[in-house]
Amino acid sequence: MSVGIYFATTTGKTEDIAERLHQLLSEANAPKDLADVSDVSELLSHEGIICGIPTWNTGADSERSGTAWDEMLDDIGALNLSRKKVAIFGLGDSSTYTENFCDAMEELHSYFVKAGADMVGYVNKGDYTFEESKSVIDESFCGLPLDEDSESDMTDIRIDNWAKQLKREMSGLF
Ligand SMILES: Cc1cc2nc3c(=O)[nH]c(=O)nc-3n(C[C@H](O)[C@H](O)[C@H](O)COP(=O)(O)O)c2cc1C
Repeated sequence: MSVGIYFATTTGKTEDIAERLHQLLSEANAPKDLADVSDVSELLSHEGIICGIPTWNTGADSERSGTAWDEMLDDIGALNLSRKKVAIFGLGDSSTYTENFCDAMEELHSYFVKAGADMVGYVNKGDYTFEESKSVIDESFCGLPLDEDSESDMTDIRIDNWAKQLKREMSGLF
């Protein structure tokens, strides 16, 4: 049983968070790969998958991240990921891009849902200040939003709580 952490980034912030999460989760037992995502086949080698995605193409309906994830979406949707647990974290800016905060999480989430994955790691939207986000589903974010631009002082506690949540929700994998 293993968990892989995959990310894509433009200016390095999503990679930095992936490394911090990797560190936090490595205190638990499972071996965890950490990689800049490049091929969907990598995702198949784990029972648990944690994905990091920034939002760049503001207001776009599709290809919202401007990263390698955008080219992989159709291939992810075509996989059979039933029985795999998947969690997503997103990087954004809740102040400057308050009407599109972390929009890319929901796009990636929708393709993992199409693949039949068991989605975990949802987060209460009440813990954030923003106007709108496509990533809010039924009053929760469909992953963990992080804001290194305007709320970096909140990041430590947010990733710490999320790591604890994942250890519960991905039970058996840690
Ligand atoms: C041109 C540009 C567009 C952006 N658009 C959004 C956006 O629509 N929504 C959002 O939440 N953040 C947006 N951001 C903020 C980035 O997502 C944020 O800086 C993030 O941490 C970048 O992650 P990365 O370093 O991993 O690429 C934008 C930033 C830039 C420079």
